[in-house]
Amino acid sequence: MARVIDPSSLANLDEVRTNHIHMNWTISFDQKKIGGNVVLDIVTLVDNVDKVVLDTSYLDLQAVSLNGEPLQYTVAERHLSLGSALTVSIPTIAKAGTEFQLKVEYSTTDKCTGVQYLEPEQTVGKKHPYLFSQCQAIHARSMLPCMDSPSNKLTYSAAVKSALPVVMSALLSSVDDNGDNTKTYNFKQATTIPSYLIAVAAGNLVGREIGPRSTVWCEPEVVDQAAWEFDDTERFIATGESLLTPYEWGRYDLLVLPPSFPYGGMENPCLTFVTPTLLAGDKSAVDVVAHEIAHSWMGNLVTTSNWEHFWLNEGWTVFIERKIAARLHGEAERQFSSIIGWKALKESVELFGEDSPATVLKPDLSSGIDPDDYFSSIPYEKGFNLLYHIEKVVGGPTVFEPYMKAHVERFASKSITTEDWLAHIHEYMEVNHGQETLQKLKSIDFDLWINSPGMPPVDPNFDTSLADACYNLATRWDQARDSDDLSAFSPKDVESFTSTQKIVFLERLTDCEPLPHRVLAKMDELYEMSPIRNADIRFRWEQICVMASYEKIYPSVVEFITKQGRMKFVRPLYRYLYNAKNGATLAQETFLKHKNFYHPIAAQLIAKDINLKQ
Ligand code: BES
Ligand code: ZN
Repeated sequence: MARVIDPSSLANLDEVRTNHIHMNWTISFDQKKIGGNVVLDIVTLVDNVDKVVLDTSYLDLQAVSLNGEPLQYTVAERHLSLGSALTVSIPTIAKAGTEFQLKVEYSTTDKCTGVQYLEPEQTVGKKHPYLFSQCQAIHARSMLPCMDSPSNKLTYSAAVKSALPVVMSALLSSVDDNGDNTKTYNFKQATTIPSYLIAVAAGNLVGREIGPRSTVWCEPEVVDQAAWEFDDTERFIATGESLLTPYEWGRYDLLVLPPSFPYGGMENPCLTFVTPTLLAGDKSAVDVVAHEIAHSWMGNLVTTSNWEHFWLNEGWTVFIERKIAARLHGEAERQFSSIIGWKALKESVELFGEDSPATVLKPDLSSGIDPDDYFSSIPYEKGFNLLYHIEKVVGGPTVFEPYMKAHVERFASKSITTEDWLAHIHEYMEVNHGQETLQKLKSIDFDLWINSPGMPPVDPNFDTSLADACYNLATRWDQARDSDDLSAFSPKDVESFTSTQKIVFLERLTDCEPLPHRVLAKMDELYEMSPIRNADIRFRWEQICVMASYEKIYPSVVEFITKQGRMKFVRPLYRYLYNAKNGATLAQETFLKHKNFYHPIAAQLIAKDINLKQ
């Protein structure tokens, strides 16, 4: 049997590769569809190829042709999570290395999981419709037929006809006015990328320059706020360049999406997508932008070869994100974020269970598991901790930082596995630092780190200097839970806290027994928690209240989880609400009532979280 290159793709990756895709699209907001054709430039990798198998998911296929000649094709029965294989028969090609072009005419359908269409009422301006895509991990196939595997890197170009401005994960080359109230937007992505980085959005979008290579795009109503909040963008890119290699992608633009965007950020090349919940008014959430910028190297240049090695994207990116934080704000800041990450890791391990295969750094996806079902902090934070541990063991930043750069130089434009990474780091340490350092590296039990479930095998001992004040305050509240006298607490306790310190204080309390309602009410009164609109603080505050079944908070929770759809906030809150006193029905009813608000990916996962069959 052929080697399995990617267990999450049905394409014949061992026989052919796609080098380039050209998309000829028309966006129909009325019909909620993208239609037209795609032309795939394909090359054979072996002799005697007589078919091309593409990934598709809920596409309406109309015709496939080669040099204008129609071809026979079949669409296999749908695999639950991987979609339907489209097998195109081609006249047998004798020689490996032969190039040809396939054209597929098709349109998306209303079952498309990768694109959300918003009614005007769901946007800030309320006048125009909107659409945006989210292809990672395996949703590109619901937008276009392709070899939907990160092992296959390709360039792309696109001509997109639309009545509203269009942006893509590429550089805009020209705009043609069609004279019928539509324009055609022409794009080029000249650096090779995996299919999951193909991205598109359209709506009433305006751009505002925020740096020498950066524009922030959003609806006009929020552009001032967005431009202010993301002011540090160029400093992050420049710091990434000083740590690694020159920025490859030409532009680094940001798109601030409507509130249903299911992630904090998505590193679409040339155009990071971010949630509007980052607009905290105090720049406290811009670490997400630093994270997406770090993907410009880790993930977008050096790419996981399939979703089992996803940690190579995210663990490395978190590591670089925190290096950027350390360069700009000091090592204590890196330690502080690592502490927050460790807590997120602990929560993920507790949620799945410490023996769960989903908690393994390099999970086994061979049974066709949906990568969305395994999404968690584990690849991020276990991955980060592995790299952090290696850095310590091999001699600290002076040894590790030059290595990070060598890693990017070695693997730029490639798709790699954990084994490729391991072989290179061993070789690098031996060649550049000799036997002694190699032996130190070899003292690490990589098998345990990579293949065992649960928490990492080594305690990182992060420096708690920024966290101590938060921990102390949490301990004081925890210990006062039974006392009648709460007069020792005052607004002064948190006066000097940054937003992040408030988050860590609240996170610490989630590890304690639920607080009595009387105590929660006092905390709310003194620290004015309930009016806080910063989404990260609000999330943790409402979590503590719901975990204590403090019913007074429920209306605010319902508002929070129906006004924004970022999974980091809505999934846990739905779960806690579902498990809280008088919360189960409220959770289910709230979801059913607002189902259309959520992005299809989020809707599917929330439904599973609260035991609703989709
Ligand atoms: N690439 C991810 C988002 C993603 C991962 C989407 C897997 C679909 C499948 C992005 O870079 C990310 O990690 N976003 C985080 C923010 C970050 C600061 C940890 C998020 O959305 O919370
Ligand atoms: Zn990421």
